[in-house]
Amino acid sequence: MTDIFKNNVVLITCGRGLVPYLKKEVAALGYDIISEHNTGIEVRASLVDTMLFNLSLRTASHVMCLIKNFSCRNVDRLYSEVKSLPWEELIDTCEYLSVVAVADTTYLKNSMFAAQKVKDAVVDRIMKAKGARPLSGPKRDNVVISIFWKDDKCWLYIDTTGEKLSNRGYRKIPHTAPLRENLAAGLLIASGYDGKHAFVNPMCGSGTLAIEAALIALNRRPGLLRNNYGIKHIKGFDKNEWETLRGKFKKESLKKLSAPIIAADIDEKAIAAARQNALTAGVSELIEFHVCDFSDTPVPENESVIMLNPEYGVRLNDSDEIGALYKGIGDFFKQKCAGSTGYVFTGNFKAAKQIRLKPSRRLEFFNAKIECRLLEYRLYSGSQRSCV
Ligand SMILES: C[S@@+](CC[C@H](N)C(=O)[O-])C[C@H]1O[C@@H](n2cnc3c(N)ncnc32)[C@H](O)[C@@H]1O
Repeated sequence: MTDIFKNNVVLITCGRGLVPYLKKEVAALGYDIISEHNTGIEVRASLVDTMLFNLSLRTASHVMCLIKNFSCRNVDRLYSEVKSLPWEELIDTCEYLSVVAVADTTYLKNSMFAAQKVKDAVVDRIMKAKGARPLSGPKRDNVVISIFWKDDKCWLYIDTTGEKLSNRGYRKIPHTAPLRENLAAGLLIASGYDGKHAFVNPMCGSGTLAIEAALIALNRRPGLLRNNYGIKHIKGFDKNEWETLRGKFKKESLKKLSAPIIAADIDEKAIAAARQNALTAGVSELIEFHVCDFSDTPVPENESVIMLNPEYGVRLNDSDEIGALYKGIGDFFKQKCAGSTGYVFTGNFKAAKQIRLKPSRRLEFFNAKIECRLLEYRLYSGSQRSCV
């Protein structure tokens, strides 16, 4: 393998609000975090380590190897710095190349132009060395190069992930406002869910929370669900190492749950979508589905984790209607969930007050650009301690 990866610095990106949970996952894999940002962390790791990250991490978006960082005040400098690297050792002429650029600098008006310059530098270099060049375009399902340009500094990465990790491949049928898979996993990790207690998910929509819960409970690494990754298109990709790791992780994953997972929704189309998605993820047999109002969702007698992601009210314009829905969630918690821990994930803070219980934790997340909270309610049995 070329020494283009000699830096041994890997940037793992995630959505805003997910960094604490990504850190926890990466630390559990045995890596020290060398820096953290709003939307990612850096670790010292090799190209081979990125296989482990891509297969294992539930909250990450992209795993990227730092190739080079340099000061840069114009696109000509960008071109020459990028062209100086031996891309012919890394990318075959038969591959397809995509460049993603994020720029926050006064030295450039349009980040697309940076992407274009990087792409030109790479293909010009390969053309000169090999007499042929890879095709290029916007699809991220092959070799992906990323450039971050901030003020007068550039960081150049090979994206070993390609299509983002949240695209696990199981959600073929989305329903109303589905959560991104890595956000759903982050909510579960934040709750401390580990499969030992029952997981109950009224208002399950397309089933993302229930499916991610099943993957966690089974110790099934989410990256096993898909086959294509950027790293597989890099010259010298170690297929044996990859297959060995996948085989080992497949063996480690459990076949049965130790506590039930229950998913319900009032809309039968949502349940049909959730069932199909769970089938694609290989967990449909393990999830109990119900078509019912959230207040009728069966709750096991033993201590459970009960998580709801109600609509925020963007579509439900009537604030009385949305207020009544949230009040109903509070009543459901009080009347049917004593002894368990309830969670509501919402971006409607005003409506959340209608739950009329005092949250034991309020955790900050972002659902796309919407600031949200995961509200935790300890629902003590036979007492009003958690009530406002
Ligand atoms: C925001 S979506 C949940 C999205 C879900 N977390 C996902 O990832 O697909 C809210 C869901 O609540 C359901 N819903 C609305 N009112 C309900 C009620 N009274 N009882 C049960 N489900 C309800 C809707 O059908 C919708 O599927």
